[in-house]
Formats: sequence, C-alpha cells, structure tokens
Amino acid sequence: MALVDELSQLKDETLAAIAAAGDTSALEQVRVGVLGKKGTLTGYLRSMGQVPKEERAAVGKAVNEVRVAVEQALEAGKASLEQAELSARMSAAAVDVTLPGRAQQIGSRHLITSIIEEVSEIFLGMGYSVVTGPEAETDYYNFEALNAPADHPSRGMQDTFYLVDRSGDISRVRGESDVLLRSQTSGVQVHTMEDRKPPIYVIAPGKVYRRDVADPSHLPQFHQIEGLVVDEGITFGDLKGTLDYLCKQIFGEDRRTRFRAHYFPFTEPSAEVDVSCGICHGEGCRFCKHTGWIEVLGCGMVDPNVYGFVGIDPEKYSGFAFGIGVERIAALKYNVPDLRMLLDGDMRFLRQF
Ligand code: DAH
Repeated sequence: MALVDELSQLKDETLAAIAAAGDTSALEQVRVGVLGKKGTLTGYLRSMGQVPKEERAAVGKAVNEVRVAVEQALEAGKASLEQAELSARMSAAAVDVTLPGRAQQIGSRHLITSIIEEVSEIFLGMGYSVVTGPEAETDYYNFEALNAPADHPSRGMQDTFYLVDRSGDISRVRGESDVLLRSQTSGVQVHTMEDRKPPIYVIAPGKVYRRDVADPSHLPQFHQIEGLVVDEGITFGDLKGTLDYLCKQIFGEDRRTRFRAHYFPFTEPSAEVDVSCGICHGEGCRFCKHTGWIEVLGCGMVDPNVYGFVGIDPEKYSGFAFGIGVERIAALKYNVPDLRMLLDGDMRFLRQF
C-alpha cells in the first residue's frame, strides 16, 4: 500500500479510536499510541528520510494533515469527556437542598451546675470569691480542726467513706486510713483560713459523700455550698442579713426566713435557717408538714476553737459560716420529687431546666 494510503488509513483508525474513547485516560492512551515518542505517526515522521525524494513533499503533507486532524479530534474529544466527567462528579456529590435538616442536639447545664452558678453569682455580687478544696480529705480537715470531738457521731463509720490504705504501712489499723471522702464542704473553711489572712469572704461549692442509700431525699454523693466570712466586727446580724438576702434571691422576694437555734461543732451559736413555704406561704400545708416553714441551711458564728487551729486571733476577728445543700435547693425550687432523678440522665427530665 502506498504510504499516503497507509496514512489515510491511520487517520481513519485514530479518529475512530478517539470517538470510541470512553474517558480521558483512554483518550490519552490513543494520543500516546499515535503522537507519543514511539507513536505510529511519529514513526512515519522519523522515517521520512527513507522516503524517495519525489514523494517526500506529498508524504510530508499527508503526515501533517493526519497530525492536525488527530490533534483537533483529540482536543475536541478531551473537552467533551472532561465536561462529561465533571458533570458525573457533580451529580455523584450532589446535595439535595430540599431535604429537611438534621436537628443538632444542644446540650445545657445540669440543674445542679446551674444552681451552683446562680448562688456563686449572688455572692460574687457581694464581693465574695469562689474557692474549692479536695474531695479526698483528711480526718483533720473534715472533723478535727472543725472542733468535732473524736467521739462525735458524724465521725462514725456509718456516715463517712474512709479510703483504704494500700500502702502496706502496717502501723495502720485494719487498712483504714485517716483519709476520707469529705462528708461536708466545711473543711474548705480550714484550708481557706490557713491560706488567707482576714478579711475573708468566700464560698466553696463542691461534692460531698455520705454512706447513705439513695432514696427520694438522700444521695450518697451530693453537693454543698459552704460560706465563710472572717473580718473585724462581724456579728450575727451580718449573718442574718446575708442569708436572708440569699434566700430571697434564690426563692423569691416574698419569702421570709427564720433562724432556729441548732448545734454544729464548728459554730457557736449555731442555727438552722427555715424559709417560708412557697406552696402555702406560711399557712401550713402537706409540703411543709403543716409548719409553714422549710429548712434550707445550717449556719453560725465561727467557733473560737476553730480559730485556734488556724492561728487567727479571736479577739481581733469574728466571722460566720454557713452550708447549703444544692440538691435541697433543687428539690425545693423546682419541685424535684426524687433526688435520684438528678442522676438518672433522663433527658425528658433534665431538659426542663
Ligand atoms: N457542714 C454542715 C452539714 O453538712 C452544714 C453547715 C452547718 C455548714 C453550719 C456550716 C455551718 O458552715 O456553719 O450539715
């Protein structure tokens, strides 16, 4: 076959292959096969030297025509394949903007956390600072320095979780140690008076632990907010005014408070504070057991014996302390009928707050 015919056949075959290429990589294979270094058309160009002189012009022209035609077809094929591939990619990744969105679950603060924040804000507004202490505490801070005598019932094993000492120190009795899970936040008073000089105005929120079986009104782990003020000239009147303000802030301006004499080892005198019943407003109902009052916290003037443990001069300074149960506030303010609901993690309950 004459060279010119061979070339024309090559052209037809190549154009057919280009038309048949299903994607750009198949197209590229066709290009390499014809125009690449070892491509068929390149082979013809290389062997032009062997073509008889008189045919060379015609053959050269034919080669060139094939090259131009092939290049044009490649270009057109490439453009349309790329377009097709792009729209295939786009429809594969298509987003249906008409689908309804998936609602994000938005978390919220736990009721106990928000009560602690609310009470903290009230005291921050009065110039107090917020401090914390360790939950694993020594007997000294939880009881002894709080003037709790060694035989005080609150020290009994039925109340307090003691941590077992596994250090192998045989001098300890029955593996018990003097390290315990604090049964009250009052120990933070001692830490604070060790660490700071008066004037002291602090509150200390945190977890406390008692060996109680969980029931509607008890949890083995709950929260308290401790308060401590030590300054010159602090009186029981300051205590009353502060706690009356606190109760009104938490429960409402219409609530009244009363202070009932009580005993706590680390305060003298001590009192329990009752707030007027929010259901019957003091008339007496089932909720307040027909007394018109609901107990909310314990308080008192810091016992001079406690100052003795921390080296504060009771002649110069006086102060008051108080302790509130956070779960108790939750139960009273939000009518939580069973404290265990605070721990269940049932979103239908927790979302209400
Ligand atoms: N720590 C006491 C308790 O857990 C509560 C308390 C009472 C704290 C009187 C005080 C206080 O600071 O002055 O029952």
